[in-house]
Amino acid sequence: MSTSDGPRLPDGLSTAEAASRFRALQTLHLDPPAMIDDWAVFLLAADEREALRGEAGRTELAAHRGSFAISGVGIGSLRFAEDEVLAAVASGVEQYVVLGAGFDTFAMRHPEFAGRLRVFEVDHPRVQALKMERLAAAPPIALVPHFVPVDFEVTTLGPELRASPFDPTKPAVVSWMNTLPYLSPGAIEATLAELTAVLAPTSSLLCNYPCKDVPVSDAQRAVMRGLGASVAARGEPFRSRFRPEDFVALLAAHSFVIDLHLTEHHLNERYFAHRPDDFGAGVPARLVRAYRA
Ligand SMILES: C[S@@+](CC[C@H](N)C(=O)[O-])C[C@H]1O[C@@H](n2cnc3c(N)ncnc32)[C@H](O)[C@@H]1O
Repeated sequence: MSTSDGPRLPDGLSTAEAASRFRALQTLHLDPPAMIDDWAVFLLAADEREALRGEAGRTELAAHRGSFAISGVGIGSLRFAEDEVLAAVASGVEQYVVLGAGFDTFAMRHPEFAGRLRVFEVDHPRVQALKMERLAAAPPIALVPHFVPVDFEVTTLGPELRASPFDPTKPAVVSWMNTLPYLSPGAIEATLAELTAVLAPTSSLLCNYPCKDVPVSDAQRAVMRGLGASVAARGEPFRSRFRPEDFVALLAAHSFVIDLHLTEHHLNERYFAHRPDDFGAGVPARLVRAYRA
């Protein structure tokens, strides 16, 4: 299969691994954690895991303090997706597709769903290969995800999903969190078209997207510029941003009806109120829940 330059795992970490590493650090050292993700700790490189449980981990987390405002959006979005997926499963949905899954740990953290929920993790093959390597060295998991290798820039999602045990006749819940900024507008549109074709009506899509033309302070702009420079250095530059009204129109054009459109303020109310520290969603963010009409 040909692949784009995509996440090329240069000498630094890919964004998938960096996001998971941050979840591990805050699980170990933030009190209380913004998200309890013990499996992110298992997915750390084995030779670093013990050191990061101690002072080295505290120091590394402290170095991230300047970008907590962005991590709050990432973690808040994952928590929102998880709440929605749990509700979907409770209502009988049996398939969960995680687009741009990276080192997502939903399947590992929910052994209780083994046998009644199929989880499909979609990401770049090189990222999946590293994740599988780390999982092979971790404790056994009850709910083993189906790995569906897709480079959104060059591969068509539909055939890859159809070639897996995914059942297009049954409703699914799909999440696509913290990934759209890294994709070209063409890849996002193509993937939405594939979702429209492969998802049964009533399936739901949960995703966040990078917004433009919304109010932003100088401090927020500076934090976002810093992240932009950092991810570009990892070989995964920001490539897409949307005006909220354009994103609504894009989903509508692909038969998705949005019934929830949230901001960073909703994430803070839901997940980060009453924290003893400054962790929270501190930059403009937009998240949607949409249904396949
Ligand atoms: C910031 S990470 C987020 C991962 C995960 N959703 C999370 O929140 O931790 C962005 C993800 O997009 C994936 N990605 C970026 N470009 C891609 C491409 N062309 N094809 C497939 N996946 C891609 C990366 O591999 C990575 O897993």
